[in-house]
Amino acid sequence: MDGQALARVLPPALEMGLRHIDTAQIYRNEAAVGDLVRASGLRRSDVFLTTKVWPANYGKRFDTSLDESLRHLGTDHVDLLLLHWPEGSDVPLADQVGALARAQDAGKARMIGVSNFDSARLAAAASLSDRPLATNQVEFHPFLDQRRIHAATRNAGMLLTAYCPLAVGRVFSEPLLAEIARETGRSIVQIVLRWVLEHEKMAALTRTSRADRLEQYRGLFNFTLGRDHMAAIATLGVRHERIVNPAGLTPIWDVPGPPQ
Ligand SMILES: NC(=O)c1ccc[n+]([C@@H]2O[C@H](COP(=O)([O-])OP(=O)(O)OC[C@H]3O[C@@H](n4cnc5c(N)ncnc54)[C@H](OP(=O)(O)O)[C@@H]3O)[C@@H](O)[C@H]2O)c1
Repeated sequence: MDGQALARVLPPALEMGLRHIDTAQIYRNEAAVGDLVRASGLRRSDVFLTTKVWPANYGKRFDTSLDESLRHLGTDHVDLLLLHWPEGSDVPLADQVGALARAQDAGKARMIGVSNFDSARLAAAASLSDRPLATNQVEFHPFLDQRRIHAATRNAGMLLTAYCPLAVGRVFSEPLLAEIARETGRSIVQIVLRWVLEHEKMAALTRTSRADRLEQYRGLFNFTLGRDHMAAIATLGVRHERIVNPAGLTPIWDVPGPPQ
C-alpha cells in the first residue's frame, strides 16, 4: 500500500483498534508507516510492527538495511523481523538465520521468523537457529490447500501468519462463501477471516485501501463457525490456486494434501 492509501486508512484503522502492521523493505512504505504510527499518538509498545528483509540484503547489507528500515519506521526495534523469501540470495541459510539472531541480540527485533518457507526449508531454518522462530508468513486462503505447511509450521512450534486471506478479492465471487455468509448473517470478509483464525496457531493479515471498509473487521471475535462450515470451506482448497509465486524467489512449494 502506498503512502497515500496508508494516510487514508491507517489512522482510522489504529483508531478502531487494529494494532498489527505488516510492512517490508520491498513495499517502500516503511517511512509512511512510521510517520503515521507516530502521528497516531499511540505508544510504541501498543503497536505490533513487522518488517521483512529483502533477499538481496541477506548478506553484508543485512544490518545496514535493517538500520535503514528502523530509521524509516522511526523506531529502535520491530516486534517481528522476517526473511521475506527463501530464494533470491546466495547467502547460506545458516547465515541468514544468524543475521536474524544478531538483530534480536542487538534489541532491534523482539521476535524473528521467516516468510514463504516450504516444509523442508522451514525444518532446516529451525534446526539452524539457536532460538525460537516465531512465525512462517505464507499465502493462506480457501482456494489453496496449505495443510502441509500449516502442519509443519505448527509442529515446529511456530505460528502460521496467513497472507492474502481474501485471495486478493477472489473470495467475493465464490457462491459457497456467499451462501455461508447469508446463512449466518455475516459478511464474506468475516466468514473468511474467521475461517482462517479458527485454524490452530494461525494469525491473519489482510488489507484494504478503503477507510469505509474498515468496519468489516468488527465483530470478528464474537462468533465462531461451526464444524460443518469450516469443513465446507476447506473443500475449496482442491482448486489449489497459488496467487503469489514470483520467479526466482520461491522454494519448491509443498504439494497439496493432508499432512504426512
Ligand atoms: N510475505 C509475503 O510475501 C506477502 C505477500 C503478499 C501479501 N503479504 C501481506 O499480506 C497482506 C494482505 O494480503 P493481500 O493484501 O495481498 O490480500 P487480501 O487481504 O487477500 O486482499 C486484499 C484485497 O481485497 C480487497 N478487498 C478487501 N475488502 C474488500 C471488500 N469488502 N470487497 C471487495 N474487495 C475487498 C482489497 O481491495 P480494496 O483496497 O479496494 O479494499 C484488496 O485489493 C498484504 O498487505 C501484505 O502485508 C505478504
